[in-house]
Amino acid sequence: MTYEFIQVHTEADKIGVITLNRPKQLNALSPDLMVELGAAMTAFDADAAIGCIIITGSEKAFAAGADIGAMATFTFADVYKNDYITKHWETIRSIRKPVIAAVSGFALGGGCELAMMCDFIIAADNARFGQPEIKLGIIPGAGGTQRLPRSVGKSKAMDLVLTGRMMNADEAERAGLVSRIVPLDKLMEETLAAALMICSYSQIAVMAAKESVNRSFESGLSDGVMFERRIFHALFATQDQKEGMDAFVNKRPADFKHQ
Ligand code: HXC
Repeated sequence: MTYEFIQVHTEADKIGVITLNRPKQLNALSPDLMVELGAAMTAFDADAAIGCIIITGSEKAFAAGADIGAMATFTFADVYKNDYITKHWETIRSIRKPVIAAVSGFALGGGCELAMMCDFIIAADNARFGQPEIKLGIIPGAGGTQRLPRSVGKSKAMDLVLTGRMMNADEAERAGLVSRIVPLDKLMEETLAAALMICSYSQIAVMAAKESVNRSFESGLSDGVMFERRIFHALFATQDQKEGMDAFVNKRPADFKHQ
C-alpha cells in the first residue's frame, strides 16, 4: 500500500517504523492521515516478522494536534454521525505488539494524545507536550483527559488541560509522561535500540506483558493481579519459557522461536 501522509519502512527486518509526514502542517493529524496510520499499524501487527512498532514525526513536530483546518467547520451532526475520533483513532488500542512513540518537537493536543496511546514515549530533549484544546473552545477528545491524569496525576493534568500551557521534556519526564529523554540527534538510534531489545525476547511474553500492564488501567488491583497471574501461569505452556530458562541455567543466549 502506498501512503500520502505517512512514511513506512522496516528496520532490521523486525521493527516497523511509521513516520508522520505532513511537515508543512507540523504533522497535524487529519482524518486521512489517521486512516493511513491505522492501516500501517494493523499491517505491521499482522506481520509475524515484526516485533515492535515505532511512531515518530519530524524534528520540529511529532504532531501539533488534530487538523484544526479540517475540524473548523465540523458540526455536531458531522462529528456524531461520523463517529469522529472513535472511528479512526481507536485502531491503535487494538494493536497487540509494542508501540513506541519517538517524540521530538511539538506533541500537542491530539499529538500528545497519540503519543499517550502508544505503550511508552521516548522524548528528544526538544520535545514539548501539551493539551491546548481549551484555547480553541474544545477539550481533548482522544483520551487526553483520561490518560494524562493517569500519567502525571490530577494537579498537573488539570494545569495543562485548563491553561493550555506546554511542558518541556524535563518536566514531562519528572511527571512520568515519558520514559526517558535522549539528545535529539540520538532519538531514532536510542528508540531503535529499545525496539531491538524488545524484539530479542519471546514475542508471546512481550505481547502478554503489554496486555497485562494495560490491564492495570482497566481494572482494580485484585482483578488486575489475578489477570496477570493467569497469564503468568499460561506462559509456562510456551516453548519460549523453556528456552529462556534453559538458556539462563546453561549460561547461553536464548533463541526464542515465538512459540
Ligand atoms: C492544522 C496546523 C496545526 C494544527 C500547526 N499547523 N498546527 N494546522 N492543525 N493542529 C500549521 C499552521 O497553521 C501553519 O500553517 C504551519 O502548521 C506551521 O505552524 P506555525 O503556527 O506557523 O508554527 P510555529 O509558529 O512554530 O508554532 C507552532 C505551534 C502552533 C505552537 C505548534 O502551530 C500551534 O499552536 N498549533 C496549534 C496547536 C494546537 O492547538 N493543537 C491542538 C489542536 S486541537 P501555515 O499554512 O500558516 O504555514 C486537537 C483536538 C484533539 O488536537 C481532539 C482529538 C484528537
